[in-house]
Amino acid sequence: MRQFFAIIGHPVAHSLSPRFQQAAFDASGLDAAYLPFDISPEQLPQALAALRILGVAGFNITLPHKEAIPGMVDGLSETAREIGAVNTVVSRRGEWLGDNTDGPGFLLALERFLEENRLAFPSHVLIFGAGGSARAVLWALARRPFRAICLVNRTRSRGEALLNLPILSGIPDRTACALDQTSWRDWISNAKNPLVINTLSLRAFAGNEIPFPPLEGLSLSDATLFDLSYVPSKPSGAGPEEGGRTPFLEMGSLFGAPSQNGLGMLLCQGALAFRLWTGKEAPVDRMEEVLRLATGQKSLWKSL
Ligand SMILES: NC(=O)c1ccc[n+]([C@@H]2O[C@H](COP(=O)([O-])OP(=O)(O)OC[C@H]3O[C@@H](n4cnc5c(N)ncnc54)[C@H](OP(=O)(O)O)[C@@H]3O)[C@@H](O)[C@H]2O)c1
Repeated sequence: MRQFFAIIGHPVAHSLSPRFQQAAFDASGLDAAYLPFDISPEQLPQALAALRILGVAGFNITLPHKEAIPGMVDGLSETAREIGAVNTVVSRRGEWLGDNTDGPGFLLALERFLEENRLAFPSHVLIFGAGGSARAVLWALARRPFRAICLVNRTRSRGEALLNLPILSGIPDRTACALDQTSWRDWISNAKNPLVINTLSLRAFAGNEIPFPPLEGLSLSDATLFDLSYVPSKPSGAGPEEGGRTPFLEMGSLFGAPSQNGLGMLLCQGALAFRLWTGKEAPVDRMEEVLRLATGQKSLWKSL
């Protein structure tokens, strides 16, 4: 019988997951359909009940539901428990296991980017944002020998709470700053070869006359930039040098710093979800090809 997979979010129409996951099922010769469903937070309990009745084999979860799902499934993987959010649910004989492939997917994408661009692994990292994806990023960073983290968020207390997570106890130097404080600018100016990661949602960039968060005046030529977003500031085809650059990475282009958007992470988290659902290695080359065609971005791994 044909298997059925889904992604739920609000909104979800922009998601590239249906395209590359369907291509992965087709390339693997599996009889499966992967469908997007726009579900508001109020509709979430009924939507999950409907997915159970329909016999969904697995599904992805995107904004804004990732942190609500842990309390609504039958069990959690250790990764999902540590991150406190679920982006992938696997159904085994009707029992739902919540997992999280964002953290491992982020780490795979970061390491591939550093390797392909011959960049050393940084020891200092500044992260903008303290939402669900920042939790996944911190989980990943806790697995590598980082020495210092500065977390910058509009709501400073949210950043502080994340830095107190037990998984980060091995990182000796942890600082939380509010976006409107200047102390993070001093921190980043004094860090050597820092990794700067943006996890702020696009809402933070919308309607701001000054690019946000303001990076002008900083000298970050030895930094590496990673934006989890992959929505470009200009449509594809606007010019070869603009392809794939998000509003955050546009700011980074002022410094000529190596830059990566979230498309590689999207691919890696999707490939891990595919393996959880099917027990088979994902056809990564085909999935990557679909992402390149859908976005017009020539490479997921070369610096933008
Ligand atoms: N590439 C991938 O595979 C992948 C995977 C996961 C997520 N993502 C992307 O990562 C981004 C964040 O996702 P998320 O799940 O972490 O979102 P989230 O949980 O909603 O967190 C949003 C963050 O943005 C901040 N923010 C929102 N509006 C703001 C504003 N007007 N001014 C200043 N700060 C604002 C919030 O600050 P407060 O705490 O102060 O509210 C919070 O830190 C999204 O663009 C998502 O698409 C990509």
